[in-house]
Amino acid sequence: MNVLVTGGLGFIGSHTSVELLNKGYEITIVDNLVNSNIKVLKNIQKITGIKPEFKEIDLRDKKELTKLFECNNFDGIIHFAALKSVNESIKKPKLYKENNIGGTKNLLEVITSKKHRTNLIFSSSCTVYGQSKKLPIDENCPTNNIESPYGETKIKCEEIILEAVKKYSNLNAISLRYFNPIGAHESSLIGELPNGIPENLIPYITQTAIGIRNELTIFGNDYPTRDGTCIRDYIHINDLALAHISSLNFLSKVKNKKIYDFFNVGTGKGITVLELINMFEQTNSLKINYKIGNKRKGDITSAYADISKIKTKIGWFSKKSISDALKTAWEWQKRISNYEN
Ligand code: NAD
Ligand code: UD1
Repeated sequence: MNVLVTGGLGFIGSHTSVELLNKGYEITIVDNLVNSNIKVLKNIQKITGIKPEFKEIDLRDKKELTKLFECNNFDGIIHFAALKSVNESIKKPKLYKENNIGGTKNLLEVITSKKHRTNLIFSSSCTVYGQSKKLPIDENCPTNNIESPYGETKIKCEEIILEAVKKYSNLNAISLRYFNPIGAHESSLIGELPNGIPENLIPYITQTAIGIRNELTIFGNDYPTRDGTCIRDYIHINDLALAHISSLNFLSKVKNKKIYDFFNVGTGKGITVLELINMFEQTNSLKINYKIGNKRKGDITSAYADISKIKTKIGWFSKKSISDALKTAWEWQKRISNYEN
């Protein structure tokens, strides 16, 4: 199977590319490097022994995208390429709309301008649920509670993909709504490369542990949870990567049927911020310097997934432990300072 991976040099895309190559897929990576490093390509090759095809293309550039599709027939497309900072999206909503929705529209237009049958997997997010009244969150929970322009781009892309599947006979698609991906590849050759001061918890913890940050601030400890801190569903990056391959396989077995569906991807277990910090300390035998601070605006109290839909329909479920994710995240942080070398 010939698979196009957009945003394939990013955090989730690079891990998924490695798993695809390990399983014998032929892949082409497209990335504009806005939030990634070309060194990732070499490291994918180091891990797998295979140099994937790479094109530096911005998905907003329809001409270049069209050229790529003129020379290739992709059986599968995994579409990761997007900007992902909630904070930045509040400051630059137009950029997020143009990049995330504009890029997806271009991609759909070039796919559907061809006859070749394509299965598309789209990176959505649990952010589409906002603070759900129902926990664990299942796919029927409402998506009208979105708090950020970033989240709006995700639900909009899901909608336009659904419309394209209905309209064009050569396209089937799945949107995967990820919960909180963490960890790194066991080789420590690829991982998350946060830009500037991290917004997410794990890179902030690892940067504090290594001394880049003086202390971690826990955003509030008076939430109505078992220890007062927020609950999330953290999922090992390797498990998340495999969810894409299971989804592609699922679509490739569908014959003579139109399919668009969407699935949660998490572990199904909620962990508090304090519990995660304790696990990190125990797993890696170190102490994190932290204080309790104010709540972060826009944070939700609890989000964890009901994963029965993906388990039943696609047969995917998470296998790796959170401790393993925390161990690999720390190994990656120790390596990352040498990343440019
Ligand atoms: P990332 O920033 O590490 O990877 C995204 C990649 O896309 C980057 O390499 C970037 O350079 C590239 N890119 C962005 N805009 C592009 C464009 N216009 N043209 C070509 N390339 C472009 O992010 P990630 O964490 O790997 O996330 C991948 C996808 O998953 C994104 O769509 C993100 O919104 C979604 N997602 C991420 C998380 C998370 O916590 N990491 C959670 C839910 C959903
Ligand atoms: C963030 C995004 C969300 C995205 C998700 C996965 C926001 C408001 N939401 O959510 O859209 O889908 O990442 O990438 O940014 N925390 C601290 N101190 C820190 C950092 C985080 O206490 O320095 C806490 C947060 O309050 C939260 C938990 O850790 O309770 C996880 O935070 P984070 O990693 O940013 O993920 P989300 O809040 O789930």
